Amino acid sequence: MNLNPAKIPDSFLNMSVDDLNERIIEIKVKLGKRLQILGHHYMSDEVIAHADERGDSFALAKIAAQTDAEFIVFCGVHFMAETADIVTALNQKVFIPDPGAGCFLADCARIRDVENVWREIETVSSHKIIPITYVNSGADMKAFCGDNGGLVCTSSNAAVALKWAFERGDKVIFFPDQHLGRNTAFALGIALEEIILWNPDEALGGNSLDSIKQAKVILWDGFCIVHQEFDVGYIEKLRQVDPQINIIVHPECDFSVAQAADFMGSTAYIIRMISAAQPGSHWAVATEKNLVNRLKSSYPDKRIEILQSFEPYCKSMAQITLTKLAYQLDQIDRGNLINQVIVDDQYVISARIALNRMLELT
Ligand code: 13P
Ligand code: SF4
Repeated sequence: MNLNPAKIPDSFLNMSVDDLNERIIEIKVKLGKRLQILGHHYMSDEVIAHADERGDSFALAKIAAQTDAEFIVFCGVHFMAETADIVTALNQKVFIPDPGAGCFLADCARIRDVENVWREIETVSSHKIIPITYVNSGADMKAFCGDNGGLVCTSSNAAVALKWAFERGDKVIFFPDQHLGRNTAFALGIALEEIILWNPDEALGGNSLDSIKQAKVILWDGFCIVHQEFDVGYIEKLRQVDPQINIIVHPECDFSVAQAADFMGSTAYIIRMISAAQPGSHWAVATEKNLVNRLKSSYPDKRIEILQSFEPYCKSMAQITLTKLAYQLDQIDRGNLINQVIVDDQYVISARIALNRMLELT
């Protein structure tokens, strides 16, 4: 898999924003229904303005599974484009304007480590374990879950996925985001003592045999660097200054932050809650800055701020720029299919099984 973006010529690098916008619109009109641009909510305003559909990772996976478009240009990070490639038909092509836009969290779970740990757990526990991987993971991880009776989840459906797993097994191993796993399991009533963290660099993941036997949920030791920027100290200070404030956080935040918050949910949930809130209400939001700033400008009748003194942002999402989007579309228009995301054949079928189990969850 080539993760280097195609080199962009100076003629494009020097184009004005107006010219880039014009070229994008021209190609969109020309290709019509043959082209669909999908944009994650963390994209910049100038990129998301061109998305035919915008959404969180779950919504975009569903749209990708349903679209008939021949060319799908994914403005998001690499695992999202990979997911789209897995759920689309063979005649559909998925592109990402910068294939190097990875995800720190997805990179926390390497398949070789995961397979070693799976074997290690099997030798010490006779329980039936169901693997769940957060969609923020590689296609190899999704295939691993498909092959071992598990599924994929997103932050929108992690609770339903956990319930699905407990109907089929005794324990769950949750990859790669420990925070989404812990926050969701705890919200479902699983005690913290029954949720253990597995450090792949330590024997038995750093746990005792007894704690492994008693555990209901085993968490992989992964996290999102962006969502670790939010902290409880800031929440306490904010509540002192503004007792009316509503604190809403993404479940990739630390457990202490999730516990101190008033509301927790996926990107789509955060948008729903704030759009439905009373005019005049105050909101502090713990998630990526592009989304928070867009909420702020979309709802001037509510006071919305980011839950930090600075603006945490996702460098990977920011790699998808207007210039790269324009060049991507220009090249598709010329029949030069650069930056196509093609998931390795060896993972497609099993990863699709794990993704379809998620898409069928109600
Ligand atoms: P959503 O599933 O809420 O879109 O989140 C994806 C993500 O990468 C959050 O950091
Ligand atoms: Fe990955 Fe975090 Fe960026 Fe989301 S915000 S894409 S989890 S690094």
